[in-house]
Amino acid sequence: MNLIRFDSHRAWVRGVASWWRDRLRLNPQLTMCLPTGLTPLPIYEEMVRSVRSGHASFSQASIWGLDEFGDIPRDDPGRLENTLRRHLVDAIDLAPDACHFLDPSRPDLDDQCRRFGPAGGFDLVLLGIGANGHLGMNEPGSAADSPTRRVELHDSTIAAAARYFDHDRLPRWGATVGLGPILSGNEVWLLATGASKADIVRRIVRDEINEELPASLLRRHANCSLLVDADAGARP
Ligand code: F6R
Repeated sequence: MNLIRFDSHRAWVRGVASWWRDRLRLNPQLTMCLPTGLTPLPIYEEMVRSVRSGHASFSQASIWGLDEFGDIPRDDPGRLENTLRRHLVDAIDLAPDACHFLDPSRPDLDDQCRRFGPAGGFDLVLLGIGANGHLGMNEPGSAADSPTRRVELHDSTIAAAARYFDHDRLPRWGATVGLGPILSGNEVWLLATGASKADIVRRIVRDEINEELPASLLRRHANCSLLVDADAGARP
């Protein structure tokens, strides 16, 4: 895993967006797995500006949403699909049928999970980090080869999800792309910003590689970058 520390949050946004534009130029048909949460939103906004100014195009690319909360109404703005649509998908030149989301409200969730993702695996996986080291909704203890599936959320993840909603009916479960397909991605970028992520960034880099700390498993990946701003990378 390469640890890349940018001097400021602004430099981090520009740097990651520049890498992303390069990947799209090299492979216009890039297949991507994308998270929501708060961390990647400024990068998505930078990519929207890049598309508008003609410096990037998603017209041949495809996107899969990394995860989705259960028992949240389809029109709730805090739903992860709605967040990703608002900040990226609806503002770029992606083909309407090139965007895929898990829908935990449908009765065929197991089937959806089995079929989710591109045939050859993801070219590029972007991830945020939970304070407990979760990736997507793969909580501590998830197996390194876990498939895309329904999961129960840990209490700290439920509490952290309060930031995404304007009400207190918080999700207790969800569906997530598993660690298996994440770790099989050709390239993985783990994103972290802000002082509140400094401890977990340090643990990911220093602690023993362990399923109790899912993000540490990325250290075995041949092409993974941990991309942090100065605050998140303050305690390497
Ligand atoms: C979101 C997701 C989560 C977040 C993580 C960090 O799709 O899968 O794993 O990436 O909880 O969230 P933020 O970025 O809000 O700190």
